[in-house]
Formats: sequence, structure tokens, C-alpha cells
Amino acid sequence: LITAGGTREPIDAVRYIGNSSSGKMGYALARAAYSRGASVDLVKANVDLPRAPGVREVSAPTAEEMYQEVVSRLPDHDILIMAAAVADYKLSENPTDGKIGKNLDDINVCLHPTTDILLECSKTKRADQYMVGFAAEYGPESLVRARGKMERKRLDMIVFNDIARRDIGFGSDYNEVVILTPASETRVQRAPKETVAEIILDHIARGIKEKRAALG
Ligand code: CTP
Repeated sequence: LITAGGTREPIDAVRYIGNSSSGKMGYALARAAYSRGASVDLVKANVDLPRAPGVREVSAPTAEEMYQEVVSRLPDHDILIMAAAVADYKLSENPTDGKIGKNLDDINVCLHPTTDILLECSKTKRADQYMVGFAAEYGPESLVRARGKMERKRLDMIVFNDIARRDIGFGSDYNEVVILTPASETRVQRAPKETVAEIILDHIARGIKEKRAALG
């Protein structure tokens, strides 16, 4: 079960709070997982990419819709990879019907946290399930913060990328990441997202094998 893209939280009928995630990393993971024989559900938010052959796709434009789609599918899957950039906040009230006009001096927008999908999923996680998060971080101590996120959300792996870099990550066809697990740290040099996806899947495959061996 893979998520891709970036959620958009509506302000009115035509405006939203969003982010510039293209969905390319999630799609590369979905294509690579399918070509390895996995049965793949892809929950996508505002992605404008050609369909990934063999992959079941469902649209979830907002954080709440993504939460519902992920939670309902999770019991049927061994692996969850949350590559989507999920909004951390949405409007505390329902979005305005129609379009907000320009006839006001100031507009106050009050925001409320969205449901943390990974955190909720980790609460019902089976011992044989493997959960992967992504951490888009900026500035000093970013790797330490990514590891902290992995621990807080009780993940098996977190894929760190440095959003201070313009030549990788959001929107780019390339990525450079650090794959963190509770026991390891692996740097993956700048490479096409397809190559990075294969390396991430190699690590997940190894991790899930070890997990199953430990469960007996
Ligand atoms: N994520 C999620 N649900 C949310 C927000 C994020 O499941 N409401 C997932 C993302 O898909 C990603 C991971 O959590 O895999 C880390 O996302 P990030 O936004 O970097 O972390 P946060 O926990 O939101 O922490 P912060 O924004 O404070 O850095």
C-alpha cells in the first residue's frame, strides 16, 4: 500500500492549502513494487502522472480522504509506504461555499491539525506488517529529527530527504536520501527516483524477511 502526491486542504471552492509534491517518488515505488510481483494499491493525492500499469489507483485529494482510504486498505497489506506529503493542518471550519471575494481588509484563517495517518496506522499495526515513512526535513539536526519521527510513529523505516536541496526531491526526477531503520543508516547518492525506489525496496525486502524470521 503506497501513497503518493500532496494533499490539498480547501479554503473555498477554488482555493486550497497545498504543497508541491509531484508524486514521482511514490509512483516510482509503485511501479518497482509491481514489477517485483507485489499486489499494489496506490492512494494518490493530486498527481498528474500517467497511470502505473498493473497498479490499482484511488484518488484521495485531502488528508482526511487519504486517511480513510489508507486505513480501510491497510489490513489487506504487508507493507505501507507513506511517500505522500500530507498536509499537517486543515481549516478548522468547513471551507466556504463559493469563492471568497476581495472586499475584506483582513482574512483570518484558523487551522486545525489533520489526523496523522502513520501514527494512527501504527496503533493497529500487526507484528508482521512493515511501515515506512518519509521525512522531508530542512536545516541542522534534520537527520536526528527524522530518526525521532521514526521512533514517535513506531516505524520500521524512515526515508530522509533534505528539502534545502533544489536539485533533488520535490518535483525533481532525482532524489538523494538516507534510509534509516532502528538499527541502520544508509546513504543513497543522488540518482533517478526509479533507482532510489529499487534501493528502498531492497531494504524493505531485507527488513521484512528479518522480521518474519524473528517472528518464527
Ligand atoms: N504523515 C502522515 N499523516 C500526516 C502527516 C504526515 O501520515 N497528517 C506522514 C507522511 O506521509 C510522511 C511522514 O508522516 O511519511 C512524515 O511526515 P512529516 O510531515 O515530515 O512529519 P510530521 O510528523 O508531520 O512532522 P513535522 O511536520 O512536525 O516535521
